[in-house]
Amino acid sequence: MNNQQLQNRKSKVIARGQGNVYPVYVERALNSEVWDVEGKRYIDFGTGIAVCNTGHSHPKVINAVKAQVDKFSHTCVMVNPYEVAVELAEKLTSLAPGNSDKKAIFVSTGAEAVENCIKIARAQTKRRGVIAFNGGFHGRTNMTMALTGKITPYKNLFGPFPGDIFHAPYPMEAHGVTVQQSLKAIENLFKVDIAPTDVAAIIVEPVQGEGGFYAAPAEFLQALRKLCDDHGIMLIADEIQTGFGRTGKMFSFEHAGVEADLMTMAKGIAGGFPIAAVVGKSDVMDAPLPGGLGGTYGGSPVACAAALAVLDIIAKENLVERANKIGEVFNQRLTALQQAHPKLILEVRNQGAMIAIELVANGDAEQPNTALTQAIIAGAADAGLILLACGFYGNVIRFLPALTIDDNTLEEGLSKFEQLFTKLAS
Ligand SMILES: Cc1ncc(COP(=O)(O)O)c(C=O)c1O
Repeated sequence: MNNQQLQNRKSKVIARGQGNVYPVYVERALNSEVWDVEGKRYIDFGTGIAVCNTGHSHPKVINAVKAQVDKFSHTCVMVNPYEVAVELAEKLTSLAPGNSDKKAIFVSTGAEAVENCIKIARAQTKRRGVIAFNGGFHGRTNMTMALTGKITPYKNLFGPFPGDIFHAPYPMEAHGVTVQQSLKAIENLFKVDIAPTDVAAIIVEPVQGEGGFYAAPAEFLQALRKLCDDHGIMLIADEIQTGFGRTGKMFSFEHAGVEADLMTMAKGIAGGFPIAAVVGKSDVMDAPLPGGLGGTYGGSPVACAAALAVLDIIAKENLVERANKIGEVFNQRLTALQQAHPKLILEVRNQGAMIAIELVANGDAEQPNTALTQAIIAGAADAGLILLACGFYGNVIRFLPALTIDDNTLEEGLSKFEQLFTKLAS
């Protein structure tokens, strides 16, 4: 079966809501390369949306999974637990930024981790309100849709949403939103919409993912920490896209030296095996009653084994350091491209290997170039590249290479991108 035939079959039986960027069907994948059912090779700059930080099919992950499956694959951690879950919780609680004693829970997806953060924050504070940010993305379940700060395509047709959710602007220098303006908008919410004594949590991505790879300045996260401390509000770090070495630290909050009360972990945690976690201060995590958190598949032993292998690879292969090197190489090359096309590339930004370029028309920050972005994404497959877009207007190209990518493949992928961009920009 070729790609087109499979796409035809897919569109008959999988609803359009679960769409696909590329009509390219994967046959196999290894580290930073993917081969489709027609034998075509692609360099993967998307890693399944920041999941395969340790590359596709890393042998250590595969071996850990095989060994676990040979023993057992499910008992439910809430019925008969197992050592791999305890060991993973020990590791994650020690890796989470900050010095407080921490505990974890395991769930299956990022959205579920976010949902549970809100439940725990409400149980701890006995308050109702949650503040999130414009352009933020937190998932596709009912609560996480409400937290998400972008209507299309995430919220259209899906209301009503849970109440007591409020949005404030996220600082974005390129678009003239300062840290002071964001903080002032929160103070304004406290006057207009909800008293701070009724706010359970503020949830923030340290670098907005779907929103366009805007990094929150350290002073913003530090100011949020202070605001939360002043008012007894839980600070929730959504590190689902930024975690596990991606930004050149194990977790992005480390760049600001801030400890959250609760944080989410998913995506890069287990090399593609579905597991997510909430890690938070022990007293906060213990606020809900026994049985109030969890689920049938949360903390699957197979995914726990994969996650332990991932953590081992990140440490042994120095992938946090490698993320910074990869980010530098991308930044240099993309900045040169920007110099050649100053009216089309508004900004090159990266925090480690979370890298993006924002495309505009006429060098104007307020004229998003969604058409060029879409043309580049569509042309990438022909060029043998997997790329992803993001951004409020879909005018940002994000690069999320595996942190295990070798120099030659990195160079080859960047050259392909430069050629593609230059062809479509002229
Ligand atoms: C910051 C952030 N939060 C939450 C989610 C939702 O995670 P999942 O798709 O695993 O439910 C995502 C996914 O892209 C994300 O980037």
